[in-house]
Amino acid sequence: MATRKKECLSTRLLTWYRKNGRTLPWRGLHDPYAIWVSEIMLQQTRVETVIPYFNKWMQRFPNIKTLARASETDVLNAWEGLGYYSRARNLLKAAQHVLEQHHGELPQDVDELRNLPGIGRYTAGALASIAFKLDQPTLDANLRRVFTRLFNIEVPADSAAGEKILWDLAAEHLPKGHAGDYNQALMDLGANICIPKNPKCELCPLTEICQALAKGVQELRPVMKPKKDRPHYFQAAGAIIENTKVLLAKRPAKGLLGGMWEFPNGRIEAEPAKELENTLEREYSLRVQRGAALGVIRHAYTHFKTTVYAFECKPISISTSDTLKWIHLLELDNFPMGKVDRQIANILYGKI
Ligand code: ADE
Ligand code: SF4
Repeated sequence: MATRKKECLSTRLLTWYRKNGRTLPWRGLHDPYAIWVSEIMLQQTRVETVIPYFNKWMQRFPNIKTLARASETDVLNAWEGLGYYSRARNLLKAAQHVLEQHHGELPQDVDELRNLPGIGRYTAGALASIAFKLDQPTLDANLRRVFTRLFNIEVPADSAAGEKILWDLAAEHLPKGHAGDYNQALMDLGANICIPKNPKCELCPLTEICQALAKGVQELRPVMKPKKDRPHYFQAAGAIIENTKVLLAKRPAKGLLGGMWEFPNGRIEAEPAKELENTLEREYSLRVQRGAALGVIRHAYTHFKTTVYAFECKPISISTSDTLKWIHLLELDNFPMGKVDRQIANILYGKI
């Protein structure tokens, strides 16, 4: 009985996928590098957003060698707008490692893949199954949702116990020799049919197997641990301008937006206009005179939300360094930035 159900699940899924799978630029490619790039881009980003970035990336860095030899600035520039920039820095580091240690070929082994920067259990499974046709399961947010519904899992999907149950289910139902299609079928089912709200069960090939549907609880799965509220910060930022030059600061290599550029800024308590000058002196030893307000920019990162008050400033006393640099206003595009700072840059562009 258990065996029949197993076959039922993967057979129905694969039949559905052959007819209904999405046509995507990386599907059907036999180049493991292209599949690797796509999987890294898809880690936290929707397919529709990834497609143009993927196409441009493959023109700019068509193989591991060209990527390994690119500069971090080039790589961050190509990634700008996709978010989670450590993915780009890790991709570059991993390409350099593969070129030096593996003769420029991705290793065909999940454990070795997982040793590369930026490749976790999920991406290793996806790559191994899609690029190398190995019988490996994978588990992303879409697959978690599908499996918690199919097997009516009530244990929180983001707990250690839930993770184990879901990886085991993904492995248990994997059809030998077809892991890549099976994994991608589950991704597509999760993206288009078994969606978070109002899943389209009437179009699903697995209705007869689905335990959550049988009980009418599909919308209540997955169960997740209670979420902590993200803190909300306030920041003031200064576009310090002298003639046609503006001062940019480079963020530390590690952590949020590592290695990207920004307008000098800092946390404030309550009154942006009053606190800006002290903030820039405290954070960068910069002395400036605040000018006109440029705008208020709100942004939500994974772990906090922020409201940034941007002002034009005049320099009074500035000492530059490797991480604090005068650039021409027309060069702003060449400096990789996060969304908040790119908005400030665009406001400045609008003014020149
Ligand atoms: N999400 C992550 N990997 C994917 C893939 N290969 N196809 C579609 N969606 C995905
Ligand atoms: Fe998801 Fe509905 Fe299909 Fe169950 S029947 S897997 S809830 S789409």
